[in-house]
Amino acid sequence: MESSTARGNWSGRVGFVLAAAGSAIGLGNIWMFPYRAGQYGGAAFVLVYLGAVVLVGLPLLNSEILLGRATRRNPVGALRLLSPGTGWPVVGWLGVIAGFVILSYYGVVAGWALDYTWMAVSGQLFSSTSGSMSGAFEKLVANGPRQVLWQGLFMLATIFIVSRGVEQGIERTGKILMPLLFGIVLVLLGYSLTSEGVERGLDFFMRPRFSELGWEGALAALGQAFFSLSLGMGAMITYGSYLGEDESLPGSVAMIAVADTALAILAGLVIFPLVFTFNLEPSAGPGLVFITLPQAFAMMPAPAFLASLFFLLLIFAALTSAVSLLEVAVAFLVDEFKLPRVTASVGAGAIIFCLGLPSALSEGFLDHVDALASNWLLPVGGLCTALFVGWSLDRAAARKFYSAGGSGRGFELFHFCIKYLAPVAVGVILLQNTWPAISGLFAG
Ligand code: PFF
Repeated sequence: MESSTARGNWSGRVGFVLAAAGSAIGLGNIWMFPYRAGQYGGAAFVLVYLGAVVLVGLPLLNSEILLGRATRRNPVGALRLLSPGTGWPVVGWLGVIAGFVILSYYGVVAGWALDYTWMAVSGQLFSSTSGSMSGAFEKLVANGPRQVLWQGLFMLATIFIVSRGVEQGIERTGKILMPLLFGIVLVLLGYSLTSEGVERGLDFFMRPRFSELGWEGALAALGQAFFSLSLGMGAMITYGSYLGEDESLPGSVAMIAVADTALAILAGLVIFPLVFTFNLEPSAGPGLVFITLPQAFAMMPAPAFLASLFFLLLIFAALTSAVSLLEVAVAFLVDEFKLPRVTASVGAGAIIFCLGLPSALSEGFLDHVDALASNWLLPVGGLCTALFVGWSLDRAAARKFYSAGGSGRGFELFHFCIKYLAPVAVGVILLQNTWPAISGLFAG
């Protein structure tokens, strides 16, 4: 067995929690969560999302971290160590593949944020008097080379951080960027909560409209919880593998989930009052952050300052998440093939950059890859992880892994959730996604 220091380690609990919160808090919170809440009935979506975080997200987050911590291995190695000679390591492989797929388009969207920040800082974003933000966005997504340039820069930053190692690269980035990120959110919150549209914005976001939710919205909320907490692809197994056995788990897990959820809600509290102040469309979908919000900024004092601040926030959030996506592949290559970390980071990063080119170059491709990852790869990965911990791993071992470094309080509830509740809930998402195809087969 390799020594743990050769793989790297968090310096302690704070470093781990900030890095894991950095993984969780990302485009999912600031870009996706508000637009989905806007589309699916405001607080109706938020309530289902919160339920999913508590009942499915928390136990799965706990499971992934404890698997990593107990084995000190990447997702493939972790499952192979615990279940040699079985098919379970395939789940780890699925996670590594999901990391490649998600980061390929994640880098493109993060690239948009870089482009917007540059445009805001250089004074171009608000320069045209016609001020059509949807025109600006359409121009950007129609310009492949420009997107590839920003995606490439973003990937270079991600590769650089990961190549520096667990403590010097990933942990340090989390320790710097996470406090900055919360700071920026608070400044923006000051603007939005004193804006004229605050009452209508809060009403829109905080009042449940169940008629707009439907099954589709409920399932989107469950998928959102997965994506937002970085579950179902072994990112948290990987981060857990750098955690000491002497750190108690449930407290850290709760902190990560609370930080992630808080940031999603805060993003909604920043965006909706501003959107209502200027009578814009709150249910705009994916364009909410890239079209509607800049339209609101354009009508405020110091629009370039506000836009730079907001898109910087998006970049920071995306960077700490991208780092965790790349780290899954790097940990796998370092553990299994004994590649030096720098070689693994550059190699995997370069492949992912190339995989992202279709998302940057052809409109619409990105949505398909996103759907593949959120609707399929993560839920399948999460379901398998829940089945492994709940049914395959023996209960005594699960209890031992869960309790290491702490009192083991809450184990019974955890085990019930991971054994029954999580598989049923995730099974429902998958069925919902496969049902049209299955019923089509019979109808045909
Ligand atoms: N949690 C990230 C977000 O909300 O943007 C995305 C993500 C990161 C998903 C890492 C999965 C993952 F393993």
